[in-house]
Order: sequence, then structure tokens, then C-alpha cells
Amino acid sequence: MALVPFHDREGWVWMDGEIIPQREAKVHLMTHALHYGSCVFEGERAYDGVVFRSAEHAQRLHQSARLLGFQIPFTAEEITAAKTAVLSKMGLETAYVRCLAWRGSEALGVSAKANTIHAAVCVWEWGSYFENKMTGIRMMVAPWRRPAPDTAPCEAKAAGLYMICTLSKHAAEDAGFQDALMMDWRGQIAEATGANIFLIRDGAIHTPTPDCFLNGITRQTVIKLARRRNLEVIERPIFPGELASFDEVFLTGSAAEVTPVNEIAGIKFKPGAVCETMLNDYANLVRGKLVL
Ligand SMILES: Cc1ncc(COP(=O)(O)O)c(C=O)c1O
Repeated sequence: MALVPFHDREGWVWMDGEIIPQREAKVHLMTHALHYGSCVFEGERAYDGVVFRSAEHAQRLHQSARLLGFQIPFTAEEITAAKTAVLSKMGLETAYVRCLAWRGSEALGVSAKANTIHAAVCVWEWGSYFENKMTGIRMMVAPWRRPAPDTAPCEAKAAGLYMICTLSKHAAEDAGFQDALMMDWRGQIAEATGANIFLIRDGAIHTPTPDCFLNGITRQTVIKLARRRNLEVIERPIFPGELASFDEVFLTGSAAEVTPVNEIAGIKFKPGAVCETMLNDYANLVRGKLVL
């Protein structure tokens, strides 16, 4: 069955300072972002009417834009207020929230100095990113690697950096897996195609140092949650040869939340006590049932 495209759905979005019908939220074919990837975005979730870590996401959107050389003409506070306004206009309490900012259509060439900057906020209902949470997902090793920090602005949540994520995710899905584990340019374990990774051995939680991929807001939150439980968290370079030595593995992300992994390229893991504790702590935190 064909999915109804967003441009043909009822609803509202915030675009360049105004709430407008979703059907009217259009950009021109000659938009710089479409041709040259000059777009940054945020993926967030609202729980019971509250956008989790809304201010941090708005600040990261600004920081991503700065890393791509442009300034968003709305403050982080205005973007944060826009999210609440669209949620309310849409009558949604628990939803996925997507903010973005991009270079417009004044000129089309590699140089984009004349292009104005636009921003938008969209929200929609979206359940779990992965269905079978505690069962764990199956991953393969991605055919693409995270680029070195002098090859791409790796700290930005920039649309262009997702080309290799989509290619890797498609390769995984085509081979019957749910996601792919990306190595970095050195061959070290980096992250999944849209989430960070944590690996547990003898009760200690290991996670790659985020020196060439997104230091996720969920990642930072889960590290705090783990330390609050007196679990040891070790950030360090992790190599694929170590994978078989870990007992449990989970992913973190605003969309993925805490998602246990049961296999990476034939190596099996058993989602256990650490996965369950982190999954539940995160679920309680985002719903205000736990304070960090
Ligand atoms: C490539 C990538 N890494 C990591 C993350 C996790 O980031 P966050 O926890 O801030 O959502 C995401 C989430 O969007 C992502 O797309």
C-alpha cells in the first residue's frame, strides 16, 4: 500500500516564523539544500506534551548551522517555543519532532553566500524506531565508514552526512538486518546509522569516544543515568575484534531511545540486566518519573 506523502496530509508546521498548513509548507526545486546538502536538522521526541531536552536540541541545531557556515535567523528560544506551538496546534502530546534549517533558493552554485536561511519545525506521531525492544535487533557491519574530522564536519547533525547512513541502512535491510554498525575511518567502532552504541562486559559499559561522530544527547543522558546507578562507563577506542568479548550491546538515540542489540555480524549478544535497567531508566526519565 502506498504511503500518503507528508505534502498530502492534514496538519500544521512552523515555517520561517509562522504556523502554516502542512500542505502549504513547500520549498522550491532550486533550493540550495536540495542540490548541495546545505541543511541541518534535529530529531527529537515529545513525551506527554514535553519535548525531551528541547533546549539542548535547539542549541545543537544552531551549532550544526555554524559548523556549516550559516546562522539561523531564529534564536534557540524561538525554535524551542515553535516546537511547543506546533505540538499544541497538532493536538499531539507524544510525538516525533523534526526541526531543520537550510539554505534557500536565491542562487544555485557551490558558493551559497547570497542564499537566505530558512527554518521549520514539523511534528508527527511515530512509535518505536525498532519494534522488538528487549528482544534486541540484528545488525551487520556497514559498507561505509564515518569520515575523519578533517573530511567532513562530523560534529554537525547535517543532512549531507546521512548519505552514507541511508546507504548503510538500506544494505542492512536488504540483507535481512535492522541496522548497520559503522566503523570510522581508522577501523574503530563508531556508531549505528542513526544512533550511538554501548557495549557491556562484566557489568562495565564501554562506548566509543565520539571524536568523529555525533556525541548524541541520548548518549550523554544515558552515561549520566548509568553513573547514577554506579555503573562504570568507559569511553575509549573500541575495535571490531573485541566484539565477541561483550555480553550485552545497546543503541541510544532520540528516535531509537535505548534499543538492545542481539547480534552484530554473526556475533550474538543477550540483552540482559544492563540493557533493561538503561531502557527503563531512560523511559522513566523522559516521562518525568525520574529526575537526573
Ligand atoms: C548518526 C547518528 N548518531 C547518533 C545519534 C544520536 O543522537 P541523539 O541522541 O542526540 O538523538 C543520531 C540521532 O539522531 C544519529 O542520527
